[in-house]
Amino acid sequence: MLPCVCRLQPLLAFVSFALLTQGENCPATCLCPDHHTVDCSGRGLTRLPDEIPLDVRRLLLSDNWIPQIPSDFLVLYSDLVYLDLRNNSLSHIEPGTLSTSSRLVFLDLGSNNLTEIPKGAFGESRSLIKLRLGNNPYLSMVNEDAFRGLTSLRELELERNALSGLQVGALSQLPSLRVVRLEGNPWVCNCTFANLFTWLNENSHKLPNGIESMECSLPMDGRRVPLSQLSQDSFRECQVTLTLTDFLIIIFSGISVSVAAIMASFFLASTVHCFQRWSKGTKGEDEENEE
Ligand SMILES: *[C@@H]1O[C@H](CO)[C@@H](O)[C@H](O)[C@H]1NC(C)=O
Ligand SMILES: *[C@@H]1O[C@H](CO)[C@@H](O)[C@H](O)[C@H]1NC(C)=O
Ligand SMILES: *[C@@H]1O[C@H](CO)[C@@H](O)[C@H](O)[C@H]1NC(C)=O
Repeated sequence: MLPCVCRLQPLLAFVSFALLTQGENCPATCLCPDHHTVDCSGRGLTRLPDEIPLDVRRLLLSDNWIPQIPSDFLVLYSDLVYLDLRNNSLSHIEPGTLSTSSRLVFLDLGSNNLTEIPKGAFGESRSLIKLRLGNNPYLSMVNEDAFRGLTSLRELELERNALSGLQVGALSQLPSLRVVRLEGNPWVCNCTFANLFTWLNENSHKLPNGIESMECSLPMDGRRVPLSQLSQDSFRECQVTLTLTDFLIIIFSGISVSVAAIMASFFLASTVHCFQRWSKGTKGEDEENEE
């Protein structure tokens, strides 16, 4: 028994050493205030640091010059709950960076150089609660399905970007949305904006500073007006624009109504005709009876 343990001792020592150091290995330039947090903010990094412990839960990378995150990043760091990449040089998000299995709850991509949020950019990360995308000065395109599948998302920040319009589906697809920030964008209040305007009026309690905080520029002269000064009437001329489907529905219902009317009058006419013949017949019978 004893010699056996002795032989195992070096192995045991090695295993316990490996277990101990696993939590302690911290990227050279970063701080690790606790076992699950790696803080590399403001270190002048131009790429993701090596040797980030695989079991990291909070990763702080703000105020660096990081230009991209690899698409398998969250597959590798699957325990990650909190990822702060604020104020970096990210210009795009690889599709599939966030997957259904991701545990990520908080993601900050604010103050970067993003230009577009494509369809399904965040996979179907059902844990994500807060997503910050504000202060990306070139961000002018958000796909209608950009946030699809983010069923837990409560807070979405899109303020101070370059958005002139946004398809209302991008917001209305989010069942848990409580707070959305949209102010400080160069919104154009044309017909594209009309649907968003309706949604904003119905959901103004979700805007932290209310609908008053948003402005849009008039398509005619570019004059900026607060949304609170507009009404559904301002977009009245947009409602008369009919799509092809609308036309088809109108034409089809017109034809249906005409056919129904013709059939009804035919039916009425034959009823009257029958009734006349019947009353003539009974009259004849009456005359016969009288004779
Ligand atoms: C952004 O990060 C840079 C360093 O990378 C820093 O100098 C700058 O102050 C930061 N900006 C903000 C708004 O925090
Ligand atoms: C940000 O993007 C713009 C245009 O897409 C580019 O001109 C600029 O150099 C980029 N800035 C950084 C810091 O990557
Ligand atoms: C509304 O304005 C935006 C931005 O200028 C433009 O992309 C869009 O095509 C316009 N929509 C209509 C219906 O004019």
